Amino acid sequence: MLCVIVPLCALFTITQQVTPRDRCVCELANSEQPFPHDKLSIVEDNASKCNNKITSQKTLELESLMLGLERRLPQLQEDVSMLEKEDDGELYGVLSLHVIENEMKDIQVLIDRLNSTTLGHQRITTETAELLEDLKAEMEELEKFDTMHVVKRQQANLRLTRDLDTCRNGLHPTIQPTEPQHGNCPHGLFGNVTGPRVYTAGEYPGSYKYGAWGRDPKPEAGMESWYWLVMLTSSNKYSHYVRLYSSLSSLIVGVSVPGNIQIHSSNPTTNTIQGPNVVLYAGALYYNCYNLDAVCRFNLTTKTVTTLQLPKGTRYNSKGNFCHLEECYLFTDLDLATDESGVWVIYTTTQDFGNLVLSKVEDGEPPTLGQTWRTSVYKQGVTNTFMICGVLYATRYVSSEVEEIFYSFDTATGKEKFNLGIFIKKMSSNIESLNYSPVDHMLHAYCDSYMVSYKVLFE
Ligand SMILES: *[C@@H]1O[C@H](CO)[C@@H](O)[C@H](O)[C@H]1NC(C)=O
Ligand SMILES: *[C@@H]1O[C@H](CO)[C@@H](O)[C@H](O)[C@H]1NC(C)=O
Ligand SMILES: *[C@@H]1O[C@H](CO)[C@@H](O)[C@H](O)[C@H]1NC(C)=O
Ligand SMILES: *[C@@H]1O[C@H](CO)[C@@H](O)[C@H](O)[C@H]1NC(C)=O
Repeated sequence: MLCVIVPLCALFTITQQVTPRDRCVCELANSEQPFPHDKLSIVEDNASKCNNKITSQKTLELESLMLGLERRLPQLQEDVSMLEKEDDGELYGVLSLHVIENEMKDIQVLIDRLNSTTLGHQRITTETAELLEDLKAEMEELEKFDTMHVVKRQQANLRLTRDLDTCRNGLHPTIQPTEPQHGNCPHGLFGNVTGPRVYTAGEYPGSYKYGAWGRDPKPEAGMESWYWLVMLTSSNKYSHYVRLYSSLSSLIVGVSVPGNIQIHSSNPTTNTIQGPNVVLYAGALYYNCYNLDAVCRFNLTTKTVTTLQLPKGTRYNSKGNFCHLEECYLFTDLDLATDESGVWVIYTTTQDFGNLVLSKVEDGEPPTLGQTWRTSVYKQGVTNTFMICGVLYATRYVSSEVEEIFYSFDTATGKEKFNLGIFIKKMSSNIESLNYSPVDHMLHAYCDSYMVSYKVLFE
């Protein structure tokens, strides 16, 4: 019987024996040491543990606390100088002292949280640095087994490919497309968003999946730094109050001084908030009224509600929702939005075959429906919309980590674009509400009970 042996280069020395019973036995003597697979898998495990320890969530926590402090300190300074002005030689204003005492308490809470976060980070950094040193040494040890220099050559190839790319790009610099400046937008054309700037679970971590939050673009005097929050507390569909916070840091640490401003003690009932896409503008909350194809305006000062009837055929009661392939967002028939010019409502109607319709909400007693624009984008293929400088933007779901701002409609020119390609890095799968705040150029998103914001970048 013939035995065919493939010569394995110099790696193996092979002896061949023929046993008396016509059997062929090959003896393989490997001149190399066996590859330590177990060691590699330990290194792999340690590396992935290392990755899990340092999440973007941890750095964000620090960032949002810092941002909170950054906003809080000038406020304190202002209040102290106010107090100094009140000094009539002997007595300070009791009221201002009280305000400052509360401010100090809030700041103390922030500093304590910052301290524990920082200490935690220091610990992680030291541990991780040690781990990385160990891993590096271990990998260098393992590299000795690469006798054929496969890894080394791969690395060299990678370097060469990179060099080639740089070379090519150097020869043909990318030509920037020239975009006509949008006349209505003083800051320029909306071009991109940053990564998350604020990311917080707020006062009720994980309690309410649907909601909205943000800032009033036209606040009443003395409420310039206030934030509002609406959570759909009843079956992810309805809410009956707005919760106010006197600053971003109060919202993050969960201290609401004015507390709730209630529309009605029952929920749901007439004038209940239905659906998450609500906005606060000029001291009034605009939202989809309970069981109606209408916009409600709740005046936070007078606690009265006025309604604005939408055209016949408007889809409501969860019949014209925002959706992606996996699910639709309940009761998102009406999306209220704010921009530099005021309040807008985005919805769809039967006669528009489910395409997005956009109307300006004109202020007044009662508010009225202004000019209306019809688009050619199907609402169920969109996950949310917002307005910047009179331009409507729509998002779609790409993956649980990424949402894409893909569409725009310019109300000044009627021009539509379907290929914007601006990506939002999500902190959880779903964005239940999304709105632009013209006061600080932030996009405020409510994502599966988290409050997240992104800075808008203009070109
Ligand atoms: C992997 O981690 C464990 C525990 O953290 C440590 O004892 C071990 O030395 C590490 N091994 C390597 C190869 O880095
Ligand atoms: C930070 O925390 C540590 C340990 O809990 C404590 O010793 C230290 O005084 C704290 N520092 C500040 C500024 O609060
Ligand atoms: C937007 O910003 C991200 C990161 O900040 C960047 O990777 C991306 O290329 C930018 N997109 C555009 C369209 O400029
Ligand atoms: C709320 O009511 C007050 C008092 O009538 C009024 O001055 C204010 O303009 C109202 N706000 C809105 C947004 O209608």
